[in-house]
Amino acid sequence: MDNSRKYLLNFKGCNFERTLVDMKILEKLDDFEIRDDDVFVITYPKSGTVWTQQILSLIYFEGHRNRTEKWDTLDRVPFLEYNIRNVDIENRPSPRLFASHLPYYLAPKSLKNNKAKIIYVYRNPKDVLISFFHFSNMVVKLEASNTLENFMEKFLDGKVMGSLWFDHIRGWYEHKNDFNILFMMYEDMKKDLRSSILKISSFLEKDLSEEEVDAIVRQATFENMKFIPQANYNSILSNEIGTRHNEGAFLRKGAVLWFTVAKLLTVPLSPCPLGEISRASIVPPSYTEI
Ligand code: A3P
Repeated sequence: MDNSRKYLLNFKGCNFERTLVDMKILEKLDDFEIRDDDVFVITYPKSGTVWTQQILSLIYFEGHRNRTEKWDTLDRVPFLEYNIRNVDIENRPSPRLFASHLPYYLAPKSLKNNKAKIIYVYRNPKDVLISFFHFSNMVVKLEASNTLENFMEKFLDGKVMGSLWFDHIRGWYEHKNDFNILFMMYEDMKKDLRSSILKISSFLEKDLSEEEVDAIVRQATFENMKFIPQANYNSILSNEIGTRHNEGAFLRKGAVLWFTVAKLLTVPLSPCPLGEISRASIVPPSYTEI
């Protein structure tokens, strides 16, 4: 029996987590008023959302570490469609920062041809797959899978939150000219965090001093975020979402394993650049977790 419907709600062709998604917002997306200075982090799940939420808020709070340290990521950069803290997003003072997993075709109408900025972060699908597998087994709100193969079937059928990785990323990429959008690759952020932060701040037209950039880099490393409760989602997981077991964390490994897998399989080391994405690039013929 297909168990996925117990956990997923399909809205206009895209799967959302059934109990956390805010239907009032989903149903009124077309009327949601976008402001010129709104900024969105948009991702397929498990692609570096919380990382970019942290970077974005650090940039916007101009290095005032205290404010960001005392305030959870989810309050600093609330999810539009998963507004689980009931942030009053409509009346929030500008500039408003949002996160979202929406596919391009569900984005608020007025986000099109608007000055509002979108940072779309994508990650190679093999690591997304592994991250998603562990995440789904950890949180009670998502369907667990006994084996990676079992999860991979659901992932490739799009029977997961966010539906098909392929459609999500291709949709945003093919419609990039309709939006004010910057594409960032998780693997590039991992390789050179400082340059990635500079790229993001330049897109946001935020001038940062050397010291501010240094401070943001320090606060946005995996090692730092893993131990900062306000940045690592751990309290949200245990108090608001619920986990099946005590082990596990939102920030799990934060690594680029695909490169190692690719080396083992002696396939090209391409991290699957946008524009060259094909269904075959989602998973290699034989995939085992390392
Ligand atoms: P892993 O499960 O592979 O560790 P999202 O926020 O979109 O759900 O993505 C979660 C993934 O991003 C997790 O991957 C998490 O560890 C990783 N991540 C979060 N913060 C990170 C950071 N500062 N550096 C690298 N990876 C990070």
